[in-house]
Amino acid sequence: MVAKITVNADQSVGTISRHIYGHFAEHLGRCIYEGIWVGEDSPIPNTRGIRNDVLAALRGLNIPVLRWPGGCFADEYHWKDGVGPREQRKRMVNTHWGGVVENNHFGTHEFFDLCELLGTEPYICGNVGSGTVQEMQEWVEYMTFDGESPMANWRQANGREKPWRLKYFGVGNENWGCGGNMRAEYYADEYRRYQTYVRNYGENRLYKIAGGANVDDYHWTETLMRQAGAYMDGLSLHNYTVPGGFEVKRPALGFDEAEWFETMKLALHMDELIKRHSAIMDQYDPQKRVGLIVDEWGNWFQVEPGTNPGFLYQQNSMRDALVAGLHFHIFHRHCDRVHMANIAQTVNVLQAMILTEGEKMLLTPTYHVFEMFKVHQDAEALALHLDADVYSLGEDSIPQISGSASKRANGTIDISLCNVDPQQEASVTLQLRGLAAGKKVTGRVLTHADRNAHNTFEQPETVKPHVFEGVTKVSENGLSATLPPMSVVVLTLV
Ligand code: AHR
Repeated sequence: MVAKITVNADQSVGTISRHIYGHFAEHLGRCIYEGIWVGEDSPIPNTRGIRNDVLAALRGLNIPVLRWPGGCFADEYHWKDGVGPREQRKRMVNTHWGGVVENNHFGTHEFFDLCELLGTEPYICGNVGSGTVQEMQEWVEYMTFDGESPMANWRQANGREKPWRLKYFGVGNENWGCGGNMRAEYYADEYRRYQTYVRNYGENRLYKIAGGANVDDYHWTETLMRQAGAYMDGLSLHNYTVPGGFEVKRPALGFDEAEWFETMKLALHMDELIKRHSAIMDQYDPQKRVGLIVDEWGNWFQVEPGTNPGFLYQQNSMRDALVAGLHFHIFHRHCDRVHMANIAQTVNVLQAMILTEGEKMLLTPTYHVFEMFKVHQDAEALALHLDADVYSLGEDSIPQISGSASKRANGTIDISLCNVDPQQEASVTLQLRGLAAGKKVTGRVLTHADRNAHNTFEQPETVKPHVFEGVTKVSENGLSATLPPMSVVVLTLV
């Protein structure tokens, strides 16, 4: 199987916002509690309650932005329950996710501490579904007001003198579903009302994100843009990759080639979704001022046997690695409109980077793709033309290769490639136009002979990146390489 790729190294097609590599951590299952927060008294080494091993691993990803506290949890979350002395905080039931007790020990102060420890920008999602305008207004005041005010005084009494810097603020989540079961027309008006009181205090400037469509609900996008487009900076979009569909859902492991193929095809559907939502946004916002914020994406499988169905804990295999790579290539292609994307979720939930069990921790294949691809963050996307064979199963086929190229500020060029065919390698001829000769090529590859390959607490390094030795020829204006079956490769030209 062959592929011809042409990269125009002197033709930038936009900037790949680092926020495309964003994350999402919800009060769901063991994401926040156990996965991130263990408390100051835990025997697990921690910094002010946040586990050190997870912190160190996440620092390796340069996480640019972190969305919190939900998800569906956001529209049931009352932030005032999560500030002040921890032992006095209200205990509530997390009705949406497993019916477990939420002790509110991880609240606003702990979240900002996590963001500061990670060097990441906070993205807070406010409560529209069961909250009030006043509650949302006061949260923003609590976090960002510098001066004398009831909320700023309360923040100071709770130990934080200076306000935090907050840019990203979501006005509700999935308001067509768990966030209030609203119609687009109704939510658009609610959005306008709530956002009025989401104020810019002092020098803090908020980027307001309206709750967006579910998958292909183009009516939602059209209505929001028409009725409320002028009041927003971003509009979200949620789409999960769910082989078999939500009614059926399939296991994360033990899948056959038909499920592999179906998953890849579903992942590629993100391209069509972005194109069509963007086309609607273009009608109302041709300047592309409003960002499409894909703040929930990733694989959604059955939970691991024996685990709480409300905790959404699933394993992560080579299949997840390829799905992550395909998504990034799609987001890069649409970087003029896609200003942010947030994988669901960071630890122990859905397509996670990290899985934990007590004091043990492992990095998933998805983690490794985020780590390998971080070179694209804030780089200039380069024009890339791809002419590849197809990967077929039965009557159906999809492109075998997907790719993306970018140029860093220092001139280094990174080219990422995915071979989604689990059986066939691919011979790739890469032509580089507009490049000074004499570049040195290095590469890394994530691959495995078994499509179900994954990391376990006993064998945490079954899937990990290796030096790529598949470059077969380097010439003045290009190179040839052989990509193994089901592989993710990043080539770097210095
Ligand atoms: O990520 C899990 C859930 O999926 C989120 O809480 C919700 O927004 C979406 O339906």
